[in-house]
Amino acid sequence: MNLIMLGPPGAGKGTQAAMLAKRLGIPHVASGDLFREALQAKTELGLKAKSYMERGELVPDEVTIAMIRERLLQPDCDEGMILDGFPRTIEQAEALNGLLAEQGKTIEAALFIDAPEEELVRRLSSRWTCRKCQAVYNVISNPPRERGKCDVCGGELYQRIDDEPDTVRNRIRVYWDQTSPLIDQYRHEGLLTTIQSEGGIDHVHEKILSALRIA
Ligand code: AP5
Ligand code: MG
Ligand code: ZN
Repeated sequence: MNLIMLGPPGAGKGTQAAMLAKRLGIPHVASGDLFREALQAKTELGLKAKSYMERGELVPDEVTIAMIRERLLQPDCDEGMILDGFPRTIEQAEALNGLLAEQGKTIEAALFIDAPEEELVRRLSSRWTCRKCQAVYNVISNPPRERGKCDVCGGELYQRIDDEPDTVRNRIRVYWDQTSPLIDQYRHEGLLTTIQSEGGIDHVHEKILSALRIA
């Protein structure tokens, strides 16, 4: 199964994609996580992405598409994958169709995870992320068992530089300008499922499973 997670920053794409990936036994491919790994490793890709990410702007399409292309060719994506944060522009969506077609694959569903803007800002200002494995926590709604430490890998938790309120506002603006047109596009293609991300993480997970008819 090849799934896309769409939605504004802080809606819960990463949280839900990780849960679904575990449930379905397929990889969680998150463009933001790939960029952050490259940034930490100080690779050429990381250097290219850095200034865009810090400002909450999109990394140029050609850079992003090349990175995803390489990731999708890995054998662990053969049985399906959950794409989180990609595509984010019309051009990326077209490139994705091309990449999948080359491999004889299709998109089964685009999950649009949505939440009100005040809630997005609130969630992102209380989010903590693992430096090592990028697992996501929230001091209010999803705290780690031990303060400052990742439940999954024991790594150190930190606050993303782009979770600072002004940058969050810019990310939301960029989302409306550049990414939201994809919602209509996937709706026209009959692939869109909208999930309101309210009522807690487990509840949202259940809603997604039932929308996808996964028992
Ligand atoms: P990226 O890392 O993709 O960030 P984003 O899209 O802004 O999304 P977030 O990761 O902030 O939010 P999320 O929806 O994953 O929410 P989460 O599950 O963490 O991108 C970062 C940057 O990389 C971009 O700005 C850009 O520069 C670059 N980039 C990435 N992809 C790109 C692309 N395709 N093209 C160009 N550039 C690209 O949840 C948020 C918080 O809420 C957490 O604390 C969580 O615990 C909590 N939470 C989740 N669900 C709930 C719930 N139901 N109730 C209460 N709390 C909840
Ligand atoms: Mg995320
Ligand atoms: Zn971790």
